[in-house]
Amino acid sequence: MNARPVYLDHQATTPVDPRVVAAMLPYLTTEFGNPSSSHGYGRAAAAAVEAARAQVASLIGAEPDEIVFTSSGTESNHLALTGVAQSVRARGGGRRIVTTTIDHPATQATCDRLAADGFRITRVGVGSDGRLGLPDCARALEPDTCLVSVMHANNEIGTLQPLSELAALTRGRGILLHTDAAQSLASVPTDVGTLGVDLLTVVGHKMYAPKGVGALYIRRGTPSLVPQLVGGGQEHGRRAATENVPGIVALGAAASLALAERDADAARIRTLRDSLLRTLTAGLPGLRVNGSTTYGLPGNLSLTLPAITAQELAEAVPEVAFSAGAACHTTSSAPSPVLTAIGLTAEQAERTIRLGIGRFTSETDIRTAAQAILRAAGATLAHAGWPNAVGDPS
Ligand SMILES: Cc1ncc(COP(=O)(O)O)c(C=O)c1O
Repeated sequence: MNARPVYLDHQATTPVDPRVVAAMLPYLTTEFGNPSSSHGYGRAAAAAVEAARAQVASLIGAEPDEIVFTSSGTESNHLALTGVAQSVRARGGGRRIVTTTIDHPATQATCDRLAADGFRITRVGVGSDGRLGLPDCARALEPDTCLVSVMHANNEIGTLQPLSELAALTRGRGILLHTDAAQSLASVPTDVGTLGVDLLTVVGHKMYAPKGVGALYIRRGTPSLVPQLVGGGQEHGRRAATENVPGIVALGAAASLALAERDADAARIRTLRDSLLRTLTAGLPGLRVNGSTTYGLPGNLSLTLPAITAQELAEAVPEVAFSAGAACHTTSSAPSPVLTAIGLTAEQAERTIRLGIGRFTSETDIRTAAQAILRAAGATLAHAGWPNAVGDPS
């Protein structure tokens, strides 16, 4: 057994790439200046922040002045939704925001708050594969709609949404389109021009940078968002607070690595995922795969197990670190809204696990994980009287 559990939870968070650590280290030690200071220490820090801004912009096909650094995906989503909503209200525009039933809690909770503040929220449902239907989206766009926020890839089932088709619907009507691209940036081409989005959320800790740093892309020409943090005027007044220089440098380095290595990473990760899925499917009759096989993240597997709950499996397989449903919010015992939105019962949702493969996952990791899961789930299946249950594929 490995010294540490095999890590298959890359949708929860990614390890920090050692090259990212190397890039950020000087900004934790010698280059500690405040970017707002006019002396040399400050200028070095400011230059590093601007270099990182260009790196992040380059990953998504944007211009550096379209990037605002934030503390997290949660903050970026909040700034996008609340910043737009408050700006539209000040200009007397429509008060409807359209999102989906499967967007991240950071979006859902922000929408709840906006609803309490007088905005109207429409949540469009998805099909059994987790994809939005364009006719449903078109119907949801009413004359008072000011903003549509749809995540690029789902953090539980990995489904990718048809953003460029959606942009074709929003563009002509003067509706802004925001996407939360937290889950896609490390493994899927995510170009703001191709996607046609006006706002896009970037999250460091899903792309091999540390936690506590993110960014929001705001297309040039978008009416100014109302800043949610005011104070020292950093980020050209769009987000006050002294910049997290080491985190921002890390995000920039991670963006450059993603741009250079994403496609090769994705191909390798997809091969590992397919091999893991083949092994588990062969050993576990009745296994259900959630999400879209055509439009999905390469490293994500959402699986509903026959006859064992995710919690029981996690206890039986300490040698693999994986999630039951979504790890971003495990404090809730209610069934995952994403899984229920795609038609799973509460009982099926309880039997659902998420396996997330990443840049540093090896073939050995996949073999270890497959064997351990089959041993535990297979044993339970056999106990439950299932035919053809395989305890160990080796
Ligand atoms: C899709 C998505 N959006 C937003 C977030 C929130 O990001 P953060 O943890 O940086 O606030 C996460 C992860 O937690 C996520 O998976």
